[in-house]
Amino acid sequence: MKFFVDTAEIDAIAELNDLGMVDGVTTNPSLIKKSGRDIIEVTKEICDLVDGPVSAEVTATDADTMIAEGRKLVEIAENIAVKVPLTWDGLKACKTLSDDGHMVNVTLCFSVNQAILAAKAGATFISPFIGRLDDINLDGMELIEDIRTVYDNYGYDTQILAASIRSVNHIADSARIGADVITAPPAVIKAMVNHPLTDKGLAAFLSDIKAAEIKIL
Ligand code: E4P
Repeated sequence: MKFFVDTAEIDAIAELNDLGMVDGVTTNPSLIKKSGRDIIEVTKEICDLVDGPVSAEVTATDADTMIAEGRKLVEIAENIAVKVPLTWDGLKACKTLSDDGHMVNVTLCFSVNQAILAAKAGATFISPFIGRLDDINLDGMELIEDIRTVYDNYGYDTQILAASIRSVNHIADSARIGADVITAPPAVIKAMVNHPLTDKGLAAFLSDIKAAEIKIL
């Protein structure tokens, strides 16, 4: 399973990247706003740091301007994936940009039907939003499962990029289902290490190390 980091914060990306945990990065307008940085400048910095795909989202809503923005974004670096919304115009932009040989991430996916359209338009990645479905009492994980089934039924090679991840359980469940990629905030990725029995076991070992004065160095 590939790990993308869902942030535009350079330090957080660098920390995980140093551990080999970063296969790519996703950003969106809200994350760019949070960073307080210029989109082109911060995206270039991320691309210099990370080898894998870096998603940068268009701002327009009409296909022609999305295509023009996408063409500008791909000039930043070879590893840019242009992110377009799952609208009819977004699908037109996806088709043109992917026909031109660029990676395209179709975002804001909330249904299997939308995911089918994105695959047919040549999307490299489809981003179903788990957390936002859970927020309205729908089952985000069921959508990941359904898209996996449908893509496998027809051999679509669009990669399922499980997005809007809010908890470590979303990551484990995405892995069980067979999502190709997860994108998660750095804090959620780091929280994967936590287990109370690890803490309890380590405390007992440390107590014995102290009692027996065990030393290695
Ligand atoms: C990533 O590509 C998405 O934009 C992101 O995961 C959305 O997450 P949110 O629903 O927590 O804002």
